[in-house]
Amino acid sequence: MNSPAALFRNAFEPIAVRALLAWERIESGVSYHPGSSAVISDPYPLYRRMRRNDPVHRMRLMNAWALARYRDIDPVLRDHARFSSAAATDVQVKTGLVSMLDLDPPDHTRLRSLVSQAFTPRAIERLRPRIERIAEYLLDGIAGRERVNLISAFAYPLPVTVIAEMLGVPPEDMDIFNGWSNDISLSIDPILDPGSIARVKRARHELGEYFEGILDRRRRAPRDDMISDLLAAEEEGEKLTHDELISTLILLLVAGNETTRNLIGNGTLALITHPAQMQRLREDPGMTGSAVKEFLRFDSPVQINGRTARCDVEIGGKRIRAGQELITLIGSANRDPDVFEDPDTLDIGRRGTGHLSFGRGIHYCLGAPLAEMEACIAFTALLRRYSSIRLASEPVRRRQIVLRGLSELWVDVEPARSTAGRSGWTL
Ligand code: HEM
Repeated sequence: MNSPAALFRNAFEPIAVRALLAWERIESGVSYHPGSSAVISDPYPLYRRMRRNDPVHRMRLMNAWALARYRDIDPVLRDHARFSSAAATDVQVKTGLVSMLDLDPPDHTRLRSLVSQAFTPRAIERLRPRIERIAEYLLDGIAGRERVNLISAFAYPLPVTVIAEMLGVPPEDMDIFNGWSNDISLSIDPILDPGSIARVKRARHELGEYFEGILDRRRRAPRDDMISDLLAAEEEGEKLTHDELISTLILLLVAGNETTRNLIGNGTLALITHPAQMQRLREDPGMTGSAVKEFLRFDSPVQINGRTARCDVEIGGKRIRAGQELITLIGSANRDPDVFEDPDTLDIGRRGTGHLSFGRGIHYCLGAPLAEMEACIAFTALLRRYSSIRLASEPVRRRQIVLRGLSELWVDVEPARSTAGRSGWTL
């Protein structure tokens, strides 16, 4: 039951939030509440207003600065000397979830170098046949169905099976990872209610215990997997503490599936709502690589990053003080008309400047080559199997701030004649 203090706070919090947003509007003509239903459902109209009216926006609600233009965000992400990742958010401190994402050199360099070998483009290319097999196996599993939720049947199990195999955890535990991973991914959101904080803490604890069990088994019998490699690094001493080992495993398991699931889901939705682009891709499957980059730009699975200024700096004519937090709206940078022609148009053949969806600089996404390859394989397999993919109902969006994706994407599908029925893939 809520205490009287909590009831009092809950009753007045929305008023306080509204007052802060009104203050923002008076100051700058726009207000930005990253957790509002309007922003979660479609942030792009607000991003446009922010880029036009107040691209370096003082957020009274979070006591931070929101950057909306590519030209401001790109240099901030590249400049780790002046903009730190280390100030983990209040949420991360409360939930005890701090990983290489939230560290600066030299600790960041040390942790990243321990796992980076497994994610080089060459190492990832070796996984291609295996990932193709998993994709075909999953689509076999739904062969014959006319209506399917593509998120639970395909977009989620594909990346989670891949990262589970790379780490060395049993993919058959996939259903329990899903719950933990959903809860833990909330921890990167800058604002979280107490109930969600409790869920993150519980999931962190349970996933930590789960990994302890696997680590015990690998100590007795090492295998050729990332868990055994990280364990060897821990045992050598100085390279990795036990807490860092667990937080790295949690980061890889969660980062390895939440984001790629959103890329496959958001990309499929983009194709369904842009039938001419879907047809273009069907006619020229050689465009899959550039289509995936365009899905990343058009509706980025990660919408915002955070940094803290280490010194006083000026951005877009505004003075940012040392210690103040910056929210970099990469979803907005990706729609910046100063950089992308017709930014609100989906064009799977788009060329030119790259999107910011994998970040920039020393924290540039470690899993970018893996995510792109998984998505290319996923779209190739989907379009080869189905001659028609149409929305069966309104997609259901996940209520998250940093990550943008769907929990349900129900579609009606018609199998392509050449691939009707199962093709007999096994794992
Ligand atoms: C579409 C899929 C993905 C997107 C959009 C994405 C996005 C990002 C972004 C924006 C960052 C930088 C965060 C920052 O600068 O603060 C990042 C970092 C990271 N990503 Fe990804 N990611 C994706 C897939 C993956 C996959 C498949 C993995 C593999 C396990 C992965 C592992 C990581 C790790 C470990 C980091 C931290 C790197 C560091 O701090 O040096 N990501 N990702």
